[in-house]
Amino acid sequence: MAEDLKLTKGISREEIYKEILPQIEALLESETDMIANMANVAAVFKEALEFFWIGFYLVKGDELVLGPFQGPVACTRIQKGKGVCGACWQTGEIIIVPDVDQFPGHIACSSLSKSEIVLPIRRGQEVIAILDIDSDQLEDFSDLDSNYLSEAIKMLEKSME
Ligand code: SME
Repeated sequence: MAEDLKLTKGISREEIYKEILPQIEALLESETDMIANMANVAAVFKEALEFFWIGFYLVKGDELVLGPFQGPVACTRIQKGKGVCGACWQTGEIIIVPDVDQFPGHIACSSLSKSEIVLPIRRGQEVIAILDIDSDQLEDFSDLDSNYLSEAIKMLEKSME
């Protein structure tokens, strides 16, 4: 496995996703450990797309607990249904928040976070973790991100089968 990412400078976000998804697939193909793979996925996205914060929360009992992440320190525990992450866990749906101040119950781990996208990760039918990405820009996420991030999550889910 090559351990350096190949990243082209000055290309669009969509082109970056297209460049890194095969590299994520290659990174995950020889490893089945969920934490190791989440850690590398967070590192790839942080380096390639320079997200303000990207990380995983793991379902543990009746709460989400902070897992591998890149960015500033974050809240460690989130209850089901609480905040964007807890809502994603409860509904199993991808949530895009264009302005975190407009999301009822949003949990502010950093005052610099302005918009957010959260996606569920499943083993079988069950949500076992969520991927959370925060931006310091308003309206930074769209269906483009949800489509490509969903591809990365499929790879992660497959690596844990
Ligand atoms: N904003 C999230 C909490 C996690 S941090 O953004 C890292 C939420 O409302 O669930």
